[in-house]
Amino acid sequence: MTLRSCQAIILAAGQGTRMKSSKPKVLHEVAHLPMVCHVAKSALGAGCDQLSLVVGPDMEQVHDSVKKIHSNIVAHSQIERLGTAHAVLAAQADLLDPCDDVIILYGDTPLVRTETIEQMRKNLAGGADIVVLGFKTETPGPYGRLLEKDGQLVAIREAKDASPDELKVNFCNAGIMAFAGGSILDLLKAIDNNNAQEEYYLTDAVELANARSLSVVALEADEVEVQGVNSRAELAKVEETFQINARSKAMAQGVTLTSPQSVFFAHDTKLGKDIVIEPNVIFGPGVEVSDNATIRAFCHLEGAKVASDCVIGPYARLRPGADLKEKAKVGNFCEVKKSVIEEGAKVNHLSYIGDAHVGAKANIGAGTITCNYDGFNKFKTTIGEGAFIGSNTSLVAPVTVEEGANVGAGSVITKTVEAGALGLTRAKQVSLANWATRFRAKQAKD
Ligand code: UD1
Ligand code: CA
Repeated sequence: MTLRSCQAIILAAGQGTRMKSSKPKVLHEVAHLPMVCHVAKSALGAGCDQLSLVVGPDMEQVHDSVKKIHSNIVAHSQIERLGTAHAVLAAQADLLDPCDDVIILYGDTPLVRTETIEQMRKNLAGGADIVVLGFKTETPGPYGRLLEKDGQLVAIREAKDASPDELKVNFCNAGIMAFAGGSILDLLKAIDNNNAQEEYYLTDAVELANARSLSVVALEADEVEVQGVNSRAELAKVEETFQINARSKAMAQGVTLTSPQSVFFAHDTKLGKDIVIEPNVIFGPGVEVSDNATIRAFCHLEGAKVASDCVIGPYARLRPGADLKEKAKVGNFCEVKKSVIEEGAKVNHLSYIGDAHVGAKANIGAGTITCNYDGFNKFKTTIGEGAFIGSNTSLVAPVTVEEGANVGAGSVITKTVEAGALGLTRAKQVSLANWATRFRAKQAKD
């Protein structure tokens, strides 16, 4: 969209005491991804390819977590928390040779969209020196108020420093700000702490910029997009917003949700089109579902691939490494882990398939279990193309049932069943004539 370079600084030094947690606030997850990583992803999406992170002391885990999104992120430690401007200055080393655009983001405001950051960048490209993201709210309470005059943002007044008239303003500061790289460091250095909280307010950059005749504008975002998280209740609200958006997006791209509010997606769920998802389905991270698949009610999927035309559930659990090829079926009360289920194979009732390869069109009878674990190691089960495994079979891995073989119901298979053979370990049935009749008669007398 632009040839301008861009960097982002993510503020995340806050302890988050109201979370009542032993882990840093920004590591709490929304849709199975730490909040701070959502922020990093949006920034990267908007072209901020240089990322800096400001963390408190002993927050190495936060740095490690964001590294998984962007390996080059630089972390800076803010020892004392003296305000948002002080926090940005903790990353001052990364501003000595600034990018054209510098975006300041909060690690605890995870839903900010790439498109919004792009919009802020467009305003910088159009000549603004500072772009502030605001939102209108019925409950402006503790937020900084955006004071505008003739389309120019003239000041941001923190609630604790505001006059009664200023407090009536309901256009508030979301905290997300964009600066022209050329002016940010000078402005930051001019900020003092002469205010009610004796903090270095990043928001004071706005009045300072006005005094220097720089151009400052406010953009409006939706209140839910810029909702920050300070408590578990706010975390739940943000999760809810994420899910509402994810459901709308899925439906808009051609996925049928029969009961949208009961389906929960992860941050990285990938869906094709003409998929039907019935009620009460949960997606953990790392799931990919292709066109025309049906996910019936009450399924739980995580780290799994479901190819086109598969049917899953009801009540199926796909664990990491489940890889279902076209037209495969995994039915009720089946669990599949780290296994390939080839094209058209069926695992339909009450089975556990772990560390296995199930050949195309094989049929796994009800209650079949791969015994893949001996308490120390995991072993592989191989089931050939077109094999038929009778109900209630235990496949003691490592073991192979070759193509086109059958296994008799109730067998415990420990050795290879050759292609086309019948494997059977069932004890011979005996029949004692009249035994039951005599037994019943005796019981009735006693
Ligand atoms: C700030 C804004 C306020 C805005 C509000 C939106 C200032 C002075 N005020 O309020 O206008 O309406 O956000 O939520 O900027 N942080 C640090 N180090 C610090 C201070 C803060 O890293 O020394 C980080 C926090 O972890 C958090 C973010 O900056 O992610 C905002 O801090 P917080 O204390 O929640 O915001 P306020 O200053 O209350
Ligand atoms: Ca806050």
